[in-house]
Amino acid sequence: METLPVNRVKDLINQMTLDEKINYLGGTGFVEGKIIGETQPLSRLGIPVVKMTDATSGSKLTEDHILFPAFICLAATFNPELSASYGLAVAEQSKADGYRVLLGPGVNMYRVPHCGRNFEYLGEDPYLACEMMIPYIKSVQDAGVIATVKHFVANNSEHYRKNSNSVVSERALREIYYPAFKAAIQEAGVKAVMTSYNLVNGEWAGHSYHLITNVLRNQWGFDGIVMSDWWSIYNTEKAIKSGLDLEMPSACILNKKRINALLDKGTITEELIDQRLMNILKPFCEMGLLDEEHSDPSLSKKWPEHERIAIETARQGIVLLKNQDDILPINSDSTKKVAIIGENAIVTSASGGGAGGFDPGERLVRYLDAINGIASKKDIEITYFDVPINNIANADIAVIFVTMLEHEFMDRPFELSDTQKERIRQTSRLNPNTVVVLSVGGGAEMSSWIDEVKGLVYNWYPGTYGALALAEILFGEINPSGKLPFTIEHRESDAHYYGNFLPEETELPHEFQGWNRGSPNFDINYREGIFIGYRWYDTKNIQPLFPFGFGLSYSTFKIDNLTLSSDTVIGDETLTICCSVQNTSDIDGTEIVQLYIQDIESSESRPKKELKGFKRLTLKAHETKQVEMTIMKDDLSFWSEVKGDWQIEDGSFHVLVGNSSADIHLQATFVYLRKA
Ligand code: BGC
Repeated sequence: METLPVNRVKDLINQMTLDEKINYLGGTGFVEGKIIGETQPLSRLGIPVVKMTDATSGSKLTEDHILFPAFICLAATFNPELSASYGLAVAEQSKADGYRVLLGPGVNMYRVPHCGRNFEYLGEDPYLACEMMIPYIKSVQDAGVIATVKHFVANNSEHYRKNSNSVVSERALREIYYPAFKAAIQEAGVKAVMTSYNLVNGEWAGHSYHLITNVLRNQWGFDGIVMSDWWSIYNTEKAIKSGLDLEMPSACILNKKRINALLDKGTITEELIDQRLMNILKPFCEMGLLDEEHSDPSLSKKWPEHERIAIETARQGIVLLKNQDDILPINSDSTKKVAIIGENAIVTSASGGGAGGFDPGERLVRYLDAINGIASKKDIEITYFDVPINNIANADIAVIFVTMLEHEFMDRPFELSDTQKERIRQTSRLNPNTVVVLSVGGGAEMSSWIDEVKGLVYNWYPGTYGALALAEILFGEINPSGKLPFTIEHRESDAHYYGNFLPEETELPHEFQGWNRGSPNFDINYREGIFIGYRWYDTKNIQPLFPFGFGLSYSTFKIDNLTLSSDTVIGDETLTICCSVQNTSDIDGTEIVQLYIQDIESSESRPKKELKGFKRLTLKAHETKQVEMTIMKDDLSFWSEVKGDWQIEDGSFHVLVGNSSADIHLQATFVYLRKA
């Protein structure tokens, strides 16, 4: 009979000496460019080193790795199936070189556009984040690689993140910041969680008994590995008692001297250490890491398939935000000359910086090369300019490439630099047919210049091959279909975070300033509670520049014929929502139908709408398709601070269906009754 992992691990733990046990609670260390983190080997008992790699959009330590388009670009595809393929590809890239713990996905919510890691996350809406993250994690783990959901929790900005204390209500945690972690555990079966650097309501996340033991373990039933973020715990007793299992990248705090002192005093017991080892070794055993060879070099033959997935992600995730006078796609009948401006067309910043970013190496496809590749077949002349000069006036269209650096451990300004803004203006003054291609991971200030340009493409960070997809979109070989996974405000003072984010007088830099900078501790007050992103703008009746879920296509669509399966829903019944979507244009295209719910008579303040479903539909020219989506009781409930539990009340709800939150086409009403 096969031994259960739990029994096998118990047996291993019984054979370990106390020294061996303590030694296993910390990694072997960090070696720049070579080792991000790994667990201790214990060859006497046949326990091998388990190697870890960053991260969500590709395995940075794998030889010949592919950098996938930023995770936020994946969110913009609204395509969970693609997320599964992306996750599988990243896992196979990791496994090829024997990295069997992936330090991702990152699922912190997009709270401020400035956050240096927005490019690594999935946007502002918990429903979208869950739908995209669950298939990713399942694929990673089905491929034999442990996924690590991070950074738990309320790590929504990077500015002096080790000194910031996120002051956040239980309701906002439950409704906004926890759901992706909870779903990772309960629906995706994730095997590892990484705590965050910041404090949460006055306690370091990696020391928090409340977060790790009460919430993760007791409330959500998590029995896998809880690891610290790199060098982020400070107190041995608190950390070990909190429920944290593994200190990474090495045992600075959970070391022999300190732990033995606690054991000697009787503050902790050996059983507590045994429990930590069970949490670490059981997932290893379940994933075969105690038995099989960790690397599978044969997977490198799948690189061409991964390349296709990377390109497809960019094709589906790039968002067209403005297309005045149908300036795009570039049409070879009317366009003979295109001016390409800005050094990012050549440099092609492929990703943000820090753990989630890496250099894609020689295979990086640069924007200018990708554009030349298509233009040469269409007899369109491309001329490159570092900066806008008079000659660009001779081109039929001017495309200017702009980027902003996003980097772990820094937040960046909302505004582009003055030089970048001036270059956009100069370009549009010289050439009225100006298109801006902006590469960032979050929102940026555009209200001050957007009226001066005809086209705007949100291109994210493209990874190794995303430039090919951008070129296809510019020339109409691909019809854009990405939607914004966050709202872009006109100005910071419109936003929920205004005054609730940075210490007064803080000026954020455009460049990375280095890692080791101290700062006084400061609070980030999440005063807006659950009202972040579109939940805020809707409730306050503030018109954003671009709403959540917005994105143009070269096609046009009409959504119609909304019907509900019933006008009353009782108890656990499911409501089915149907509508039709028609492509009203001559061009094949893809639309994302979005379903929102509004509680119209709640006793508590509720958002004007909340995303509860979406469907990605590809429609031939003039084709019509029927869409069916469902909602259940849980979709209607909210967290009540007063009752300390999820509540659902009798009452009326609106169902809102549209193709972007600014453009809700259809509305229907139903009544929910808890009991017949
Ligand atoms: C980051 C983590 C990352 C770790 C290892 C930390 O600085 O916050 O996301 O996984 O480094 O590279």
